[in-house]
Amino acid sequence: MAEQRPYVRIKIAQSLDGRTAMASGESKWITGPAARHDVQYWRARSGAVVTGAGTIAADDPALTVRNQALACEIDGTAVLRQPLRVVLDSTGRAAADAQVFTDGNPTQHEQGINGARVDLSALLGKLASQGCNEILVEAGATLVGELLRQDIWDELLVYTAPKLLGSDARPTANLGLASMAEAVEAKIAAVDQVGADIRTRLVRKDRNLQWFDAVPMGVPAGYFDSFSEQS
Ligand SMILES: NC(=O)c1ccc[n+]([C@@H]2O[C@H](COP(=O)([O-])OP(=O)(O)OC[C@H]3O[C@@H](n4cnc5c(N)ncnc54)[C@H](OP(=O)(O)O)[C@@H]3O)[C@@H](O)[C@H]2O)c1
Repeated sequence: MAEQRPYVRIKIAQSLDGRTAMASGESKWITGPAARHDVQYWRARSGAVVTGAGTIAADDPALTVRNQALACEIDGTAVLRQPLRVVLDSTGRAAADAQVFTDGNPTQHEQGINGARVDLSALLGKLASQGCNEILVEAGATLVGELLRQDIWDELLVYTAPKLLGSDARPTANLGLASMAEAVEAKIAAVDQVGADIRTRLVRKDRNLQWFDAVPMGVPAGYFDSFSEQS
């Protein structure tokens, strides 16, 4: 945590033409079950999973770790450690009965001061002080765009499905760029096929995967080879 903020990994499930949801907000499912199984691993190793009010409103996701293969043994009992879920919701529009607020797992509801959007740098400083070394962002184009625009990211974890959703579908990141010079540039660090999809891990142009990141840690033997449709 040299920068006094956690390592920020942004997960994106996209179509071949870089779309992350239909215009209606529908996004289940762009990628296949193997990719979604893979995401569980990245969630499990994260101190927090960060999302926005838009995703809570559209999907009501649980954002939990459900795969028993990721359980650790505590006093002889297999326990699934759940990352803290952080919901950015400056206007309080996330429904009180959303899964993240009602399923009993920990959630931090971040509301901006006087209705202003949540200060992302301050939030990350707070998460660092709460002991988060890594966070996984699972959000829509608004929050992903804002993190990229403010240059607050370390890794893009992109799952690309071999399907086209067309130009009416929503983009990966709302960036509003006007020239090529403004493009967010990244470097490909690893490319793997996960089920029917491609997983690309991208890092900042001047960086490599970190020592803690080059090899997945703590993955049970065979985890990536076997998955169930239920996970
Ligand atoms: N394919 C994927 O990987 C993926 C992943 C997740 C979601 N999605 C899809 O994305 C869509 C939702 O995307 P979205 O863009 O509407 O919502 P979003 O990015 O999930 O959430 C954005 C909302 O968070 C709140 N927020 C608070 N502080 C913020 C800040 N500093 N910066 C940015 N946002 C802040 C704002 O709402 P307030 O102003 O009300 O606070 C903002 O509108 C859904 O269709 C969902 O299915 C796709």
